[in-house]
Amino acid sequence: MAQKVTLLIGDRRVELPIVTGTEGERAIDITRLREQTGLITYDPSMGNTGTCKSGITFIDGERGILRYRGIPIEQFTDRPNFVEVAWLLIFGRLPSRDELTQFSGLLTENELLHEGLGHQFQHIPVNAPPMAILSATLSNLSCYHQEFLSLEDSESFAEAAARLISKVRTIAALSYRRSRGLPVIYPDPAMRYCANFLHMMFSLPYKQYVVTPEIENALNLIFILHADHEQNCSTSTVRMVGSARANLFASCAAGVCALWGPLHGGANVEVLQMLQRIHQGGLSPEECIRQAKDKDNPFRLYGFGHRVYKNFDPRAAILKEACDRVLSTLDRPDPLLDIARKLEELAMADPYFVDRKLYPNVDFYSGMLLRSMGIPTNMFTVCFAIGRLPGWIAQWKEQHDDPTSKILRPRQVYVGPALTEYRADGSEVNGQ
Ligand code: ACO
Repeated sequence: MAQKVTLLIGDRRVELPIVTGTEGERAIDITRLREQTGLITYDPSMGNTGTCKSGITFIDGERGILRYRGIPIEQFTDRPNFVEVAWLLIFGRLPSRDELTQFSGLLTENELLHEGLGHQFQHIPVNAPPMAILSATLSNLSCYHQEFLSLEDSESFAEAAARLISKVRTIAALSYRRSRGLPVIYPDPAMRYCANFLHMMFSLPYKQYVVTPEIENALNLIFILHADHEQNCSTSTVRMVGSARANLFASCAAGVCALWGPLHGGANVEVLQMLQRIHQGGLSPEECIRQAKDKDNPFRLYGFGHRVYKNFDPRAAILKEACDRVLSTLDRPDPLLDIARKLEELAMADPYFVDRKLYPNVDFYSGMLLRSMGIPTNMFTVCFAIGRLPGWIAQWKEQHDDPTSKILRPRQVYVGPALTEYRADGSEVNGQ
């Protein structure tokens, strides 16, 4: 197979190398294009631009494949252990039993927040959006753990990673408790990762929340399925910020801000609100589909479509199945699940969605599962962030450890005014 492409500019021929990935994906290396031709490439939403070589996650959007460090995502569904997956993503291979025990120990040691951080919560409005609280508090970790601002040795990196992965749960649960006027529940060092989060969310001083295996496994599954997704919007943000050699806490806080957007992680909230509107009679499923297709209406069918998946999103397929399983164990069936199924059926029979290859994505069914655990809608994207944190950390580390990585700095095609003369208009204010 050709290892070069030839670009013809007028009568000039320029040869550009081709870079090939492990799974045969090929990319034209344009690193020297401007130097050789004076031209840059134009790809405003970066749909055709590879910004890095990465060995963490592989996606084949045409065939609905997702693998973490080479392992198909489906192989994690039977033995769900989010901490093991986090270690795999960050350190590049599955941990030994000792390594996993040691990392779990680090998570336990780091689950409390510095009291100073806890006090900061007192000054945040109780109705503040939880994603704003999460981003601000992760950023504030830089104030309280300054020893981790430069991570030059592997031991301090592992500890900084553990701090983030552990504390994110505590911060999330604390923001929820405060919004409800509930007393703080401290983490329980005897509990596993997901059970501990549910305990901090839902236990009461006089009544321990009982975590059933079904619910614990479902939360593990949700976190695992969200753990990394190569160069998506929030991960690219983490890499962009990290490329300036910004610290890990600051870079991940920026990732939370990007994830918050309704076209990205915030879509899980939009999905639930859409289903609730239909359930309350404010919108019929047919009208919902009609509005999503109307180009004069900014409304979209949330939880549908993906930049990379053009066949099906394997995470959505696994979550749909988990939803059916978990919700069937509940006393009361959730009417929103029937509405979700109906919407999917209508969309999948409609040429608009079929022709554009718009299938349910991870956000379509994740909210239904979180809701079945009693997690309120405004905490859905926070749960996504808890799951995605290991991926951000792994991507930050990969970039940080790469001696060839440079600051990310795209170019632009300027379309503003041409050279214009400055003319004073004589409107000086207070002599300034
Ligand atoms: N509802 C209706 N129309 C849609 C939808 C949707 N959910 N998604 C895409 N389209 C249409 C677009 O209007 C466009 O139509 P056109 O060709 O007639 O102009 C076409 O499908 C292609 O869509 P783009 O916006 O160009 O696709 P892009 O790759 O830029 O966007 C995105 C992907 C943002 C996910 C989009 O599908 C979307 O907005 N979906 C709804 C929000 C959502 O669920 N986001 C979560 C994504 S998964 C994640 O981030 C975890």
